[in-house]
Amino acid sequence: MSVYTFDVLIIGSGAAGLTLALSLPAQFKVAVLSKGELKNGSTWHAQGGIAAVLAKEDSIDAHVADTIVAGAELSRPDAVDHTVRESRSSIDWLIEQGVPFTRESGHYHLTKEGGHSRRRIIHAADATGRAVEQTLIDRALNAANITVYEQHIAIDLVTRRKLHLAPNRCIGAYVLNNESGHVDVFRAQYTILATGGASKAYLYTSNPDGATGDGIAMAWRAGCRVANLEFNQFHPTCLYHPQAKSFLISEAVRGEGGILRLPDGTRFMPAFDPRAELAPRDIVARTIDHEMKRVGCDYVYLDISHRPADFIRGHFPTIYENCLRYGIDMTREPIPVVPAAHYTCGGVMTDLAGATDLEGLYAIGETAFTGLHGANRLASNSLLECIVYGRSAATDIQTRLVERQPELDQVPAWDESQVTNSDEDVIIAHNWDELRRFMWDYVGIVRTNKRLQRARHRIDLLQQEITEYYSNYKVSRDLIELRNLAMVAELIIRSAQLRKESRGLHYTLDYPNPAPERRDTILTPINYSWPDATR
Ligand code: FAD
Ligand code: SIN
Repeated sequence: MSVYTFDVLIIGSGAAGLTLALSLPAQFKVAVLSKGELKNGSTWHAQGGIAAVLAKEDSIDAHVADTIVAGAELSRPDAVDHTVRESRSSIDWLIEQGVPFTRESGHYHLTKEGGHSRRRIIHAADATGRAVEQTLIDRALNAANITVYEQHIAIDLVTRRKLHLAPNRCIGAYVLNNESGHVDVFRAQYTILATGGASKAYLYTSNPDGATGDGIAMAWRAGCRVANLEFNQFHPTCLYHPQAKSFLISEAVRGEGGILRLPDGTRFMPAFDPRAELAPRDIVARTIDHEMKRVGCDYVYLDISHRPADFIRGHFPTIYENCLRYGIDMTREPIPVVPAAHYTCGGVMTDLAGATDLEGLYAIGETAFTGLHGANRLASNSLLECIVYGRSAATDIQTRLVERQPELDQVPAWDESQVTNSDEDVIIAHNWDELRRFMWDYVGIVRTNKRLQRARHRIDLLQQEITEYYSNYKVSRDLIELRNLAMVAELIIRSAQLRKESRGLHYTLDYPNPAPERRDTILTPINYSWPDATR
């Protein structure tokens, strides 16, 4: 076992984690962990772009209003205001880092997406996330004060309370080194959860493998409140093809004129919403789901073939190439698409600097609940939130580190004396499949009390099995992720059961209308106990 000591420990190397790392002054020693390669998070896959008030004809008020309308009036006004006000300086910062945003006629090109009343999405063709992530990775690898640890999976946070010390504070994390197989201790004055979302809780998702809600589960186990986890965003248009592993067809395709059609060619969105294909995502995904069930088809079509082929290839080179790989030429024919789980709107509760309920612990990016997204995230507000809050958290941490650096406690070694190697990994694989399937069937785009009850029953059984398994066997990446995913699935179901209305992404046949009173669903881990501090 190794023990490392840093000023700042950042768990996660996506847009949020790397922005924070690069925004801290060079005098602080920073560790960045990634459970796979540095680029393995959702950021790398982001397509459409980043929403920001950049155009002359745009305004802070308009972006704020669009965010609140898309969020079904549940967004927290202070969080929306903070994020949108910081949008221009955040984009300027990315440009300073070297992100090659697309230019046309000497200006940055701004595209449009659902729910936006103006063109305000700055992008790097249709692979914005890759451009942002690669730029930030290059910068981080060249920064002398930042050490990156790939293949390092945080298992749990270390708190003074778990060590029976007071006052409580987060002092680091236990981390599995996936290459050595050892569990190491990372001690830090400040620990940041930048671990991304939890869309892997669903059978079909646009997200990469690591989106298992680790940060949300770790924060919950450490005593932090979580909020609005019932709002799981389903992206309306993922490629439908037996060999394609949920490849996204960017909303920008609809922003540039793409039309949704039934298999017989009928356009259907205008009958459901005056904004048609550019209605907010919850409405478009729900309408597609409704039409697929009504007509009995497995997918609908997204058609942009009426636009010139050069325009399509120029604006969507990645999507064009990928569709072609599956035999679909989007310049000539429509693309078969289905909705898939895409984004976790709820998360660990934070203030405007990303600070959580636990002293010494921050949460930023998709793992956090800042209040920005309300009941449904506005397209391209996520990368913006990562950059804005990564920068705000860095400012806050810097001030605190300059003011005071308490002596860090010794942390006991991870205890493996009571566990053995697992002899039946098939149990883990089976539980993964079961969880993701019942979440899709019972806690998906359309919910009912009965479906949620069924899901609750199944998650309770799974949780018992996983807890037993976890206490008897050595940790592995799969087991850590399954334990976290099951924890977050339970929190999603509990949150959904508490919301007795339909609002934004939470749609239930038992309460089909919004309630007059607007409230967040906040869960508090009052009775969580730690039978063994080091396991
Ligand atoms: P991520 O980028 O997901 O990074 C998470 C990091 O945490 C990874 O490095 C991972 O290894 C690490 N990690 C997780 N758990 C652990 C652990 N236990 N131990 C150690 N490390 C851990 N948003 C937009 O605004 N615009 C878009 O155009 C857009 N397009 C998208 C397209 C796709 C296909 C997807 C999937 C998402 C898209 N989004 C978009 C959403 C956006 O990309 C994500 O919300 C955002 O990138 C999340 O960034 P993050 O830094 O919070 O987490
Ligand atoms: C997309 O390109 O459609 C994704 C945008 C987002 O998730 O914000």
